Amino acid sequence: MVQNNSILETKNLVLKFGGLTAVDNVSLTIEKSKITALIGPNGSGKTSLFTVLSGIYVPTSGKVYFEGKDITALPPHKIYELGIVRSFQFPQLFYKMTVYDNIVFAGRKQVGDNPLNAVLARNLQVKQEKLLREKALEILDLLDLGDHVTKFPGQLSGGQLKLLELGRSLMADPKLLLLDEPAAGVSPVLVKKIFDIISKFRVEKGMTVLVIEHRLQVVEEFADWIYVMHRGRIFLSGKPSQVLTNEQLLTVYSGGRVEND
Ligand SMILES: Nc1ncnc2c1ncn2[C@@H]1O[C@H](COP(=O)(O)OP(=O)(O)O)[C@@H](O)[C@H]1O
Ligand SMILES: [Mg+2]
Repeated sequence: MVQNNSILETKNLVLKFGGLTAVDNVSLTIEKSKITALIGPNGSGKTSLFTVLSGIYVPTSGKVYFEGKDITALPPHKIYELGIVRSFQFPQLFYKMTVYDNIVFAGRKQVGDNPLNAVLARNLQVKQEKLLREKALEILDLLDLGDHVTKFPGQLSGGQLKLLELGRSLMADPKLLLLDEPAAGVSPVLVKKIFDIISKFRVEKGMTVLVIEHRLQVVEEFADWIYVMHRGRIFLSGKPSQVLTNEQLLTVYSGGRVEND
């Protein structure tokens, strides 16, 4: 089934590490303002695919298009500037900065970054900083971190660190948020919270999400579309109701042979 209204497309994407093909001829479409889940057993190439989408690795062959533009060879910071933001499995935080500063510093497209703007548009900069601060406090509240703003990340629980990492990504106003196992090692209550927050941003800001997620229950509840990876390839795709009831899914996860092996 073909999706329309796409924000990101890959065409015959291949990523090789020496003799190992981590991503093998992947063509997929991510629909705008939807939550798409990427599932598949360990080692099936999910994180490798993310490294290509976020510009960490240039693919061996194939193309990535974002909003119709070829972004295949762009470096990570350019891809980030276009609005593709990757959140990490292990929080990448500034441990010597407060929780609040960690969030504020993650704001994307700060006018003051450009020296010319800083001189010519001082007022705009002040205004933008105010907006940034308001936005930071709003996000911290949403994450239930409002009472912890003056703490340092080292004083937070593991779950709170995950939320802080998510908050940093959301501060960047992603058009497309890439989440690699945001719920790994997290309590069911927190998993629901993380996905509720993502859903809120999807509905209110039209944010698109591509998420690697192991808990099929979560995927069933929150995903609009699922891609299943197996040995570097897209093995199955469709709506949760179609994919999660497909017998072949069980075969993939049990490590057995599947038809197009
Ligand atoms: N930087 C790398 N160098 C060499 N091999 C890698 C590298 N990253 C991943 N791989 C290999 O690529 C395959 C896919 O890994 P990965 O994308 O991490 O899978 P997943 O995220 O689905 O668990 C695995 O065989 C893994 O060992
Ligand atoms: Mg992985």
